[in-house]
Order: sequence, then C-alpha cells, then structure tokens
Amino acid sequence: MATLVELTLNGRKRVDAVPGNRLLLDYLRESAGLTGTKTGCDGGECGACTVLVDGKPTLSCLTLAAGVSGKHIETIEGLGAGGTLSAVQRGFHEKLGSQCGYCTPGFIMASAGLLRTRPKPSEAEIRAALGSNICRCTGYVKIIEAVQFASELITSEGLAP
Ligand code: FES
Ligand code: FES
Repeated sequence: MATLVELTLNGRKRVDAVPGNRLLLDYLRESAGLTGTKTGCDGGECGACTVLVDGKPTLSCLTLAAGVSGKHIETIEGLGAGGTLSAVQRGFHEKLGSQCGYCTPGFIMASAGLLRTRPKPSEAEIRAALGSNICRCTGYVKIIEAVQFASELITSEGLAP
C-alpha cells in the first residue's frame, strides 16, 4: 500500500506516494533521481548509503522512506552552494581522500554531520564518527587528513561543513 511522504530534500519540499516498505536509499536513487548516495552492502555494514536526516548521519539502506516524512534529508548533491565546494568536499579533493570514489559520498556525509556538531574534532572523534564507513582503497589515513583539513577550512575560510 502506498504512503504519502512529505519531506524536505536538499532544501526543497517534495511529496511522493511510496510503498510502505520502500527504503530511503531506493527512494533517493530511483524516485528522486539522486544517485550520489551509493548502495554498498545493502545491510547496514559499509556506510556507503549515509545521508543526513535532520542533520544526523543515517544509513539510508536501513531507513524506510515513510519513516522520514516531515524531516529534512540531505544527500551529497545538497552540499556546496552556488558551485562552491563545502569544507568536507574541499578536504577530500585537496587531501586525496578519495580513490575509486564509491565510498566517498557516505564518508563526506558522515564527516559533514560530525563537523556540524564538532567543528574541531580530535582525531579520535573523527575515527569514531567514521567507524561505520568502509573504504577498500585509501587505507583511511588520507580520509582522516581530509576531515582535519575540512575542520581548518571552516575556521580559515568560513566554509560550511
Ligand atoms: S549500503 Fe547501507 S550500510 Fe552498506
Ligand atoms: S575510495 Fe574506493 S572504496 Fe573508498
């Protein structure tokens, strides 16, 4: 049975009729056409599908679309404004935090969620915040450096996380 979902997606209000069992991940990719959010394990283990729900990093593969009605959803497509990269996007770009890139949207959204609440996190806090995200390529060191650089950019250039 279809359920009416009303939400704000990357700043824009949407209303969609979706099956009650439709995952947020599938809603984003197939209904909203936002394919930046990736399907990895499809079982809550890899973090590739991470989006922000009311600012909180959330695994969209474990979340029903109907369950986020009335909430604000942010995906990788919603970061940056007017063609300007966000602090975390700049960090990953300049510190080479991405290789194949498949995990990157999930890491960036999890990092953005962290830096909004902790603009100057310690390395241990960064590692803890990204502990549910898996990367097969980078060895994680560059990812940590990317988030640390993003934290500096928030202060030095006033960029949004
Ligand atoms: S696809 Fe959601 S945690 Fe892996
Ligand atoms: S950059 Fe390839 S999986 Fe992370």
